[in-house]
Amino acid sequence: MKYFKFLLPATLLLNSLAFAQSKVKNFTPGAIWPDNKGVHINAHGGGILFKNGTYYWFGEHKIAGGAGNKAMIGVHCYSSKDLYNWKDQGISLSVSEDPENDIAKGCILERPKVVYNAKTKKYVMWFHLELNGQSYKAARTGVAISDKVTGPYAFIKSYRPNAGFMPFYPEGTPESDKVNCEQPKNKSEGFFCRDLPGGQMARDMNLFVDDDGKAYHIFSAEENFTLDVAELNADYTGHTGKYSRVYAGHQTEAPALFKHNGIYYMIGSGTTGWAPNPARWFTAKSIYGPWTYHGNPCIGKGAEITFGGQSTYVLPVSGKKDAFIFIADKWAPKDAIDGRYLWLPITFKGNDIEINWLDSWDLKIFN
Ligand code: GAL
Repeated sequence: MKYFKFLLPATLLLNSLAFAQSKVKNFTPGAIWPDNKGVHINAHGGGILFKNGTYYWFGEHKIAGGAGNKAMIGVHCYSSKDLYNWKDQGISLSVSEDPENDIAKGCILERPKVVYNAKTKKYVMWFHLELNGQSYKAARTGVAISDKVTGPYAFIKSYRPNAGFMPFYPEGTPESDKVNCEQPKNKSEGFFCRDLPGGQMARDMNLFVDDDGKAYHIFSAEENFTLDVAELNADYTGHTGKYSRVYAGHQTEAPALFKHNGIYYMIGSGTTGWAPNPARWFTAKSIYGPWTYHGNPCIGKGAEITFGGQSTYVLPVSGKKDAFIFIADKWAPKDAIDGRYLWLPITFKGNDIEINWLDSWDLKIFN
């Protein structure tokens, strides 16, 4: 017994030393990705904020086993200067020990994303929240803020957005796409009208800050039938009531937005829980749409299941032209902590995009 007590910490120490010395020099999608302590990065469903020359990766901290599909710890943060080597910055937002709290330990807290508000000088984190013990019924979004990028973040509130607000219809929206709650035309409109008084459901999500400083919350609404692209207020801590419905009735999840040459791009997935399905991409001239559906951007072996992953973020690489990284999660629901990350370069063919599988690659691909 005594022998084992000694052996285990000694092995861990040696492992950490070995990793500390061997710097990561490329991306190896789907492999174990050791942080500065030699531990596999624990930031699932994540997003990345670039600030003052440093990238900050925020994601769901998962524990081992099936229990890891619930939030037992909170949101984990890592920092990096080169995108290969990540330093553990600890937990930025902790779940609450108070069972009455919205973010009580055991809730479901997914896809956290952080943006910086230049006016308030605060870091603002949004996430998908399901209340403890209610499975995926609550479909809320939650917000937390901090003065410091790595946290600690203080939880503010959780709710369903845009209660009582009808959608904004961008120019070019066909009359047949407009909702009349006296006569919903289909299932998704039915859910929309049902939720109108209390706010729209908000599950899989992302944030996007446009060049003019306006921030948007993009989320799966209407029992995941439709995506909402919703404007956030000036301090990024609430919704304004202006939003559009995107690709209504087609069940898109895992939205990730980016902008290239003045065009808005969005990559998302279908709706098959933890199991992978084909990715889908869209473009629009205005963030509210109309959005054009273009099918699956992935090419090659495994393309029909997004190489085993599901989109979570698209990262513009700082200082490089036309350089965007598609980031997906390869979920491991039976042992959540073992979820892997798929980082792959986006290839532009004119205004079209492609995502090809690479076993290993580095940023020189963008040169
Ligand atoms: C996925 C979703 C994940 C998680 C999972 C639960 O479709 O993208 O974030 O909610 O379902 O089954």
